[in-house]
Formats: sequence, C-alpha cells, structure tokens
Amino acid sequence: MTAATALALNNKQILLGVSGGIAAYKSAEIVRRLQELGASVRVIMTDGACEFITPLTLQALSGHPVHRQLLDEQAEAGMGHIELARWADLLLIAPATADLIAELAQGSAANLLTAVALATPARIAVAPAMNQQMWAHPASQQNIDMLAARGVAVLGPEAGIQACGDVGLGRLLAPEAIADGCAALFASGALQGRRVVITAGPTREPLDPVRYISNHSSGKMGYALTTAALEAGASVTLISGPVNLTAPAGAQLVAVDSAAQMHDAALEHGAGCELFIAAAAVADYRPLLCAEQKIKKQGELITLELTKNPDIVAAVTALATPPAVTIGFAAETEQLEQHARAKLVAKRLTAIVANNVARSDIGFNSDDNEVTLYSADSATRFDKRGKSQLARDLIARFAELVETASAP
Ligand code: C5P
Repeated sequence: MTAATALALNNKQILLGVSGGIAAYKSAEIVRRLQELGASVRVIMTDGACEFITPLTLQALSGHPVHRQLLDEQAEAGMGHIELARWADLLLIAPATADLIAELAQGSAANLLTAVALATPARIAVAPAMNQQMWAHPASQQNIDMLAARGVAVLGPEAGIQACGDVGLGRLLAPEAIADGCAALFASGALQGRRVVITAGPTREPLDPVRYISNHSSGKMGYALTTAALEAGASVTLISGPVNLTAPAGAQLVAVDSAAQMHDAALEHGAGCELFIAAAAVADYRPLLCAEQKIKKQGELITLELTKNPDIVAAVTALATPPAVTIGFAAETEQLEQHARAKLVAKRLTAIVANNVARSDIGFNSDDNEVTLYSADSATRFDKRGKSQLARDLIARFAELVETASAP
C-alpha cells in the first residue's frame, strides 16, 4: 500500500451496507480494516444480513447502533435515512448479494439500505458475493454492468472455493482488498504535481497579552479542502489560524494567529502557486493598539479603536506573480449572489464560493454546507452535503479551472 492510500481514508465517513449472504460474517473484518485506514464507520444491515451476523457484533465494532429499518421512529428521530445518506462520504455495500444488486439496478427503495443508496450524493461501491453460477448469470452481469455504467465502483468478486463447495468467481474480495479499494476511490490525481495554498480558520486580533477579538470559524471547510487537495495529488500548504483540528498528514502547516501573520504567510507561499484558496474567516478589523499589559477594569463604558486589516486574498491576487487560480469564500446572510459577485470582482478572484450563514444547519460550525460557486460567467450550485464530500466536489471543479488556466 502506498502512503497516499494509507492517507486516503483519514477522517472518511464510510457507511457500510451489509446484505444477507454467508459472506456477511466477513463484514466485521471489513469494519476493522476500514477503521485501520482512518475511516469512521456506521453500519446498515438488511434483515437477511441479521440471519448471518448479529447487529450487536457490528455495533460493538463500529461504536454506533446498527441501522436496520426504514420506518423506525426512533432512528428517524436520531439519524434518519436522509441524514445517514448525507453523512456518508462513501456507501460501501459488502457483501452485495445478487438480489441486492438487482434492487440497486432497479432503483428500488424497499428497505433502508436501498433507500439510502438512492438518497446519497456520495459515491457507492459494491463488493459482490454469491455462488459462481449466480454471478455468471446474464441477469446478474447485466445488473452489475448497469451499476458500473452509473459510476458505482465494483470491488471483486474473486475466484476460489465457495461456502457452497463450488469453485469459481463469486467470492467476496478479502476485507483488506475491499478497504484498499475504497481508499483508491478517494485518490483522484486531478491536482497531481500542483502547488496549492489554503488559508483556513479564524484569526485572533490581540487587545492585550490575554485578550483577543476573533470569530466562530471552525476551520472545517479549509481543512476538508486540504484533505481533498492532497487526495487529488497536490502539494498543499495550509496557513491556519487557531482551530481545534489536526492538520491532515502530508500538508505543510503554517500556523498563524493574527491577520497580519496570515497576510505575510499568504504572500510568501501564495506567490506563483497554481491554486490559492482563501477559506479563512479573517477578522476585518484589529485593535489599533495592543496594550503591553493586561487592560484594567475601568468605568462602565470603554471605547476600543479598531483599524482595518489588509485584505489577504486581494493582496495575493495583486502580486507580481499571482496564483493561476484564486478562490475566495463569501459568507453572507442576505443577497448572496450580489455580494459574492461584488467580492469576485473587487478581489480579482477566479471564482467565489458563496454560502448563507443565516441558516443554522449549514456553514461555520456545522458539518454540512450548501454553496454556490460563482465565476464571471457561471453559477454552479452544490446542494447540501457533508463538508468533506463538498470539499472533494469543489476541488474537482477547481482542478478543472487550474487545467484551463494552465492550457497553452
Ligand atoms: O470581504 P469578505 O471578508 O466577506 O471576503 C471573504 C473572502 O475574502 C474570503 O475568501 C476570505 O478568506 C478573504 N479575506 C481575506 N482577507 C481579509 C478578509 C477576507 O483574505 N482581510
């Protein structure tokens, strides 16, 4: 396994769907292998799967209750089928029986697993397991071809001795091979060899040695973009304000506090890079003076004098050697398009990602986001999805912009 593969499941959310064949017993091992590569795993079992392995086993291994019923009041009150579908970065169905594959091909939503397969914006992978005669049947072959044509990744099956005593093609791929296959799905290579610089998180503007002005930015979007850019093969410099996140392995972390520090780091690293992404929530103003000693309690009212911070991304695009592609973010509470387009022009950006921070279910501290990407001549909507999935989708689009910008 290459280092890129080992990295590829770091922080990935994998929804494992287990259908009812004898190979279902191997799903316990699959959970483990996925976790070893860094993934967090939740499990859906069909009724058939529960005949072969107990939900308790998979609950204990995954650390989460196993999801089983489509119409389960308790489950819907917690993580219902739509939330599960959105949670997943990848839906892996292993083992996938002949019947389950047929249902997927038909677009049936008769049980929780098939309903989630229809509802998820995430990539789907299936690891078929069945008797070799069933696998070879033209109906199974047509169904699997149909799924592959829709972009479903097919992992296996492999040849060997089967539980029924037959020898042939139809055995579930080994759990390690399934986990590696999942990891490979996240490595796109779209930014192979490109130099990417990303600003992320909030900035802290000091008032005195113990106080600062800041904001609620979690840094999640910038960090997810870093992971996605690494997966796409880029070398990434992450210029980050103070956040509670670990920098993705493989990124060059430049840790900063204030906007002034972020500005200096951005100019240093951003010059001549291929893709600059300004995902940081930079404080617009900083205290004019930072007191050398802790400011003492005074009267009922005190006045703070603030001065404007430099616009970091605008300074980067104004460099003598600006990035080939520069992306900004616009967090707005109203008139999203109008404000975003004004920033696109004022900051000389290639494109801007606009999101509505008035909504509590997306943005800033949430795990989900829903955005529109505006460029001079286009608007592309990315419906609500997990931040890591969104990051991958955005990076795929940014990679196209880099490609266009570097075309002769
Ligand atoms: O003007 P506004 O702060 O809304 O613009 C947001 C975009 O500009 C984001 O991409 C943010 O990272 C970037 N920005 C910056 N430096 C600032 C303010 C914002 O790079 N001082």
